[in-house]
Formats: sequence, structure tokens, C-alpha cells
Amino acid sequence: MQILNGKETAEIIRKELAIQVKERKDAGRKIPHLAAILVGNDGGSVTYVNNKLKSCEEIGFESTLIRYDDSITEETLLKKIQSLNEDKSIDGFIVQLPLPAHIDEMKVTLTIDPKKDVDGFHPINVGNMMLNLPGFVPATPAGIVELMRRYNIETSGKNCVVVGRSNIVGTPLSLLLGKNTDPGNCTVTLAHSKSENIKEICLNADILVAAVGIPGFITADMVKEGAVVIDVGTTRIEDPSRERGWRLAGDVDFKEVAPKTSAITPVPGGVGPMTIASLMINTLKAMELKGK
Ligand code: GUN
Repeated sequence: MQILNGKETAEIIRKELAIQVKERKDAGRKIPHLAAILVGNDGGSVTYVNNKLKSCEEIGFESTLIRYDDSITEETLLKKIQSLNEDKSIDGFIVQLPLPAHIDEMKVTLTIDPKKDVDGFHPINVGNMMLNLPGFVPATPAGIVELMRRYNIETSGKNCVVVGRSNIVGTPLSLLLGKNTDPGNCTVTLAHSKSENIKEICLNADILVAAVGIPGFITADMVKEGAVVIDVGTTRIEDPSRERGWRLAGDVDFKEVAPKTSAITPVPGGVGPMTIASLMINTLKAMELKGK
């Protein structure tokens, strides 16, 4: 069984990007600039955004954090997005989700200029991805595919089951893995909370991706011997043995499942760091697409 080490792979990608940034700098060209809008104080979101900015710093990107209180109005947020759309110094930006209930996330996504939408959430980018046109692929699915590529995971002709149909992970990943690309060419099943016989469906998977946000959802009896298992779950659960009082839990019962697999991602240190690495790749691409 092989551990698909996302932490290590993301570090390699950051080093590759740092070289590209240095080359740009040395040639007197502009370096990428990512902005992140963070609303409220949700512990997970604060950590994710901080890690994104830390990653920018490490690579040599410029970054800007824009923070708002939970009570911000939708109008103020939309105005800020419009100003970032127009700000020539910013190559790409993200609005960390989830947002408070009084703010319409779809309205927010639709306000972002697709050319700066490095999260790839805007319908124009979703459509571009579907049609293989230039644009941005959401960071988590892109990171998973990149991890598979770098570990030479054989995907062509394989049965891939993606559990969870979110707009951010499950749905775009199922599309990517079904494409005529490498990695790709999978026979994809997109399973979800209404799927009947979920255990039988999962047992048919050569590649099983769990993206449901339920700790330990995938148990050993659902996994075929020799399968590749990708765990997208990052739920914070209480853990009094840790100083901070919690730990991250994946969707896969790692201890029981890992011995049955040929390869598996850990949580933490699997998909999470690859998501951030992909966001960095998208930010560089944002600048290149503009011909800067
Ligand atoms: N919340 C959870 N994942 C993501 C992500 O990839 N981007 C943004 N903006 N918010 C998220």
C-alpha cells in the first residue's frame, strides 16, 4: 500500500512555482498577485485562507487579505468584488466559502470576473472546463488529478466511484476523470446521499473518491481489494488528547481501509495541501491568460 503524500507533492509544486516566479522577476516581469476575501471567524475558513496566503509568500506571489465581520451586507461584499474585478494589480481572487446565511453565495460567484475566478466556481469557468476550453478548474478536483498524475495512478478504463456531488468537488471531479485525458478515461459513477446500494457501488470501484464530509463514512467492507482511495473529507472533530482540542477527520476509516488499498491519501496531508497548490497554479495561469 502506497501513501499518496499530498503534503510532499504540494511542496514540490511550490518549489516549481517559486522557480517560475523567480524567472519572471529576473526578467523584470510582473509576479502573480492573489487576493482573498474572508468573511467572519469560522475556524476552518480562517485556517484555509491563512494557509493559502502562506503558500503565496513561500512561492513569492504577492497576496492581499481582505477581512470582514459576519455582519457585512451583501451589497458591501459585491461592491468589493467589483472593485477587485477592476483592480489591475490583482490577477486573481477568491471569496472563501461558506458565507453567512444572509449573503447569496451564487450572487457572489456570479459577480466575480471569470478571468479572475481562480476558484473556477463561475458558470463560465464550469462551462469552459466541460468543453475543454481555457479557464480555471476548481482547486480540489484539479489537485486530486494532479496527485494521481504525479503518482502515475493508472486511470484509463478503470471504474471510478465519486461519492458526493458538490459543485466544488464531486461533480467537477466526476467530469474530469471521465474525460479523454491522462489521468482520465475512467468509467465514472457519481454516487450521493440518495444512491441505493452505496456499498455495492463502492465495492465496484478501482478508484474510490470520498467527498461527503461525514467522518469514517467509507468503511473497509465498502472497498475492493487493491483499490485506490482518495479521501477529501476534512471535518473537525473533538479530540481532548490534542492541545487545540480537535483533529481533522477524513471520510474514510483510514486504519481499517488502508491495508486493503493499493494507494490511499491520508487526512491531513493528502488532498488538502494539493487544493492549495492548485490554487497557486491557477493564480499563475490567471496572469498568463492575460498575456502579462
Ligand atoms: N470552501 C471550501 N473549499 C473552498 C474553496 O476551494 N474555495 C473557496 N473559496 N471556499 C472554499
